[in-house]
Amino acid sequence: MKHTLSFSRIVFSAAILGVGISNAVADDETIRELAKERGRFIGTILNSEWFNDAIEPEFEEIHKTQFNVVVAENEMKFDATEPSENEFNYTKGDKMVEYAQANGLRIRGHALAWHSQVAGWVSQKYGGNKTELLRVLKNHIDSVVGHWKGKVAEWDVVNEAVNDDYNADWRSTNSVWYEGIGPEFLDSAFVWAHAADPDAELCYNDYSLEWGLREGSKASFVVEQVKRWKENGIPITCVGTQTHIEIAHETTPQNVRALAKALAELDVTLNITELDIGFPQGNADKLTAADYEKQGHIYRQFMDVFLEEPNMGEFVIWGLTDAHSWLDGQQGKTQGLLYDKQYKPKPAYDSIMVSLKAHPASEVKSPYPASLFNTEAIKPVVKSNGISMQLAGRTLFVAAAAKIDLFDMQGRPVFTAHDVKGSVELQGISKGLYVVRVREGSKTLTQRITIK
Ligand code: G3I
Repeated sequence: MKHTLSFSRIVFSAAILGVGISNAVADDETIRELAKERGRFIGTILNSEWFNDAIEPEFEEIHKTQFNVVVAENEMKFDATEPSENEFNYTKGDKMVEYAQANGLRIRGHALAWHSQVAGWVSQKYGGNKTELLRVLKNHIDSVVGHWKGKVAEWDVVNEAVNDDYNADWRSTNSVWYEGIGPEFLDSAFVWAHAADPDAELCYNDYSLEWGLREGSKASFVVEQVKRWKENGIPITCVGTQTHIEIAHETTPQNVRALAKALAELDVTLNITELDIGFPQGNADKLTAADYEKQGHIYRQFMDVFLEEPNMGEFVIWGLTDAHSWLDGQQGKTQGLLYDKQYKPKPAYDSIMVSLKAHPASEVKSPYPASLFNTEAIKPVVKSNGISMQLAGRTLFVAAAAKIDLFDMQGRPVFTAHDVKGSVELQGISKGLYVVRVREGSKTLTQRITIK
C-alpha cells in the first residue's frame, strides 16, 4: 500500500500503538476492551528492561492500551525484594504498582516460594537449618505480601516445586526450601500468604502442566495436591499453568482444557500465566507466513479454551514483543509472542481478537465479580517533552497554546483546531479510538485516546 509521507507517519503511529492497518480486525478494538467485556484478564509481563527505563516508548503505549493484567518479569522475586536479610527493596515493584493503578491493570505477584532466584544469603547463612528457614520464609511472605496488601490481586505463592522426573513427587534437590524444610514449606507458604492478605488469590504455578493428566505427570500430581490442600483447609484458590511451548506442541490447548475441568471439580481457578509459543532458534531465518499463521492458530486454540472454561480467569503471555523475550537468550527458541521485533502485531494478535469475538460476552462466564472490571482504560493525563494533555469526557485540555489534530485509526484527519488555549470540545466525532497530536511550537505529543 502506498502512502504519502505524512500519512505513512500517522499510520506508523497507529501501528506502534498496536493497531496496524494490515490487521484483519477492526482498528478501534483492543484485546483489553474485549477481555473486560467478557470478565477476563489478558496481559503480558513488564520486562526487566521497562523497570530499567531501557525499552522503546512503544512498549508501554501498547501494554497499557491492549492489556488489563500485568506481572513483573523479575522484580517481585525473592532476590529482588529481599537482597539482604530483612532489608526489603520495593522500589521497582512499587513502580509497577503505580503504573498498574494509573492504568487500571490487575496485578499478579510473582513469586514467593521458589527454588530459583533466591537471594544468596538464604543458603549461605541458613542452608539445611529448618527452624531458621521457616522463620526466613515466613518473614519474607509476611513482609512482601503485607507491603502490597490490597494492591497485588494474586500471588504465585509456590512456583515450580514439582520435579522433572515424571515420578509424581516434589523437587527435592537444588531447592533451599525443600532441602531444609521438607514439603511442608508449601502448605506453610499458603497459610502465611493468606494471613498477610486474606483477599488475595493464591496460586500454585508450574511449567509442563500442559502435557496432560497422565500417570506420573506434573498435572496429575498437582491436581492430587490441590485436592489434599482443599481437604486440609490450605487456602489455595488458583493454579497457574506457565505454558512455555513451541510450535509443534499442538495437543497442549486441549490438555489445558482437561486440567481446567479437573480443577473446576475442586473449585479452583486455572490461569495461563506465562504463555509463549516459540519457534526453534535454528529456524529463525526460514520462517514463512504459514509458520506465523500456525503460531496464530495455536494462540487461538488457547484463547478458545480460556474463554470456554468458566474457571479460567487470566491469560498472561511471557512478553509483549519478540524484541524482548527470555526465549532467545535462555531457551533456544525465538519469536514466541504477539508483536514482532518492530512492535508490529503478528497473526497471533489477530487470532486472539478473532477468538474473543467468536465468544460473545453473553456466553463467557467470569470467575470474578463484575466490580473488578470497573477501571479507567487509559490514564487521562499525559506528560511528555513538557507537554501535558488531559481528556475529560469530550473536553481536551492543554496547558499552553497548541495546535490539535485528531486522526482516526486509519490515519485520516477528523478534527483540527489551531491556537487552542486551555481547552477544546471534541464535539461531532463518533465514539471510538483516535490518535491525538498536540503541537506546541516545535514540540509534539502524540497519544491514543478513547472518545466515549
Ligand atoms: O540482575 C542481573 C544483573 O545484575 C546482571 O548484570 C545480569 C547479567 O546476566 O543478570 C541479571 O539477572 C538476570 C535476570 O533475569 C534479570 O534480568 C539473570 O541473569 C537471568 O537469569 C534472569 O532471567 C530470568 C529467569 O526467569 C530466571 O529464572 C528471566 O528474565 C525471566 O523471564 C525468567 O522468568 C521465568 C519465571 O520467573 C518462572 N517461569 C519461567 C520463566 C522463564 O524462565
